Amino acid sequence: MHKFIRKIMCLLLAAMMLALVPGCGALEETGDASGEEEVSTIEIGMCFDSFVIERWQRDRDIFVQAAKDLGAEVNVQSANGDIEEQKKQIKYLIQKKVDVIVIVCIDSDSLAESVADAKEAGIPVIAYDRMINNADLDLYISFDNEKVGTLMGESMIDAGLAGGKVIIIGGSPKDNNVSLVENGFTAVMEENGVEVLDTTHCDGWRAELASEYVYENADLVADCDAIMCGNDSLAGQVVSALAVQMLAGKVLVTGQDADLEACQRIVEGTQLMTVYKPVETLARRAAMCAVQLGKGDPVTGDDVGSISNGAYSVPYVRLEPVKVTRENMDEAVIGSGFHMKEDVYINVK
Ligand code: BGC
Repeated sequence: MHKFIRKIMCLLLAAMMLALVPGCGALEETGDASGEEEVSTIEIGMCFDSFVIERWQRDRDIFVQAAKDLGAEVNVQSANGDIEEQKKQIKYLIQKKVDVIVIVCIDSDSLAESVADAKEAGIPVIAYDRMINNADLDLYISFDNEKVGTLMGESMIDAGLAGGKVIIIGGSPKDNNVSLVENGFTAVMEENGVEVLDTTHCDGWRAELASEYVYENADLVADCDAIMCGNDSLAGQVVSALAVQMLAGKVLVTGQDADLEACQRIVEGTQLMTVYKPVETLARRAAMCAVQLGKGDPVTGDDVGSISNGAYSVPYVRLEPVKVTRENMDEAVIGSGFHMKEDVYINVK
């Protein structure tokens, strides 16, 4: 039985039993109203990978506020990049009997069992931004990650990379998004005769590994025209390392997330582009879905499709990412209120 319905039944039963006890007459007057108030609070458990990357703090703040506006409470957990810790946190939320669990997984392949435990306890599970493979999820909500890679690739081609050479410095190989982004990117490279000189990954999205790569592979880097970076945090480290080699602004660099520093680098000319993912839309829509699922209702809406995660066909809400270059910075990032103009152009006279 769904947890939320079970909770309502327990509360009704308790109210009925109390009504039978002499001296509890007051409950007859207030019992219904107070009972309703109690059951209307949905408890959402939300598990994050970590808050090291700028965007996740925004995801958390918007999600928590949106949930609050819908009458729900959010119990936020962060595993600081530790997979075992994330499993423990999910277990804790199951024991706490929350109404729904929302997960930004660290390892897309290691949570099927935790999700099964939650489902066993009647708790629906949402995979937020990153897919959890082979798990019986109630929803996967994310941006079109393959398109993120396509946008990175197209920007490089627009900037003249056709027939040139690129290095790929991707994010955590345990994050399902990483291969999707790279698939989208390499397809554009193949279509345009770009040679991929090397592909490397930064375990746990540790950005320092990206600059280390640039220092340790100075000759290869000197030979390339472009470096595709999995996100803006990696791009920041790469641009700093390129600057030491007098190559910043000469090698085309991409990222994603529209982090403030990346937007600054774009208008200053050391990063070619980023991919803006309207996190506000993601967090608000996810909060709405979490509340629906927490109440025991299915997720509904024209934007709900489906996707396979290996073992299951999962309801999928797919959101559109936006390419951001120097040309459309003002319209895409500043116009949407994501960053302030004075912050983005702080170093530009
Ligand atoms: C997200 C990116 C983020 C990265 C590192 C990916 O799964 O899609 O937006 O930068 O994780 O946290």
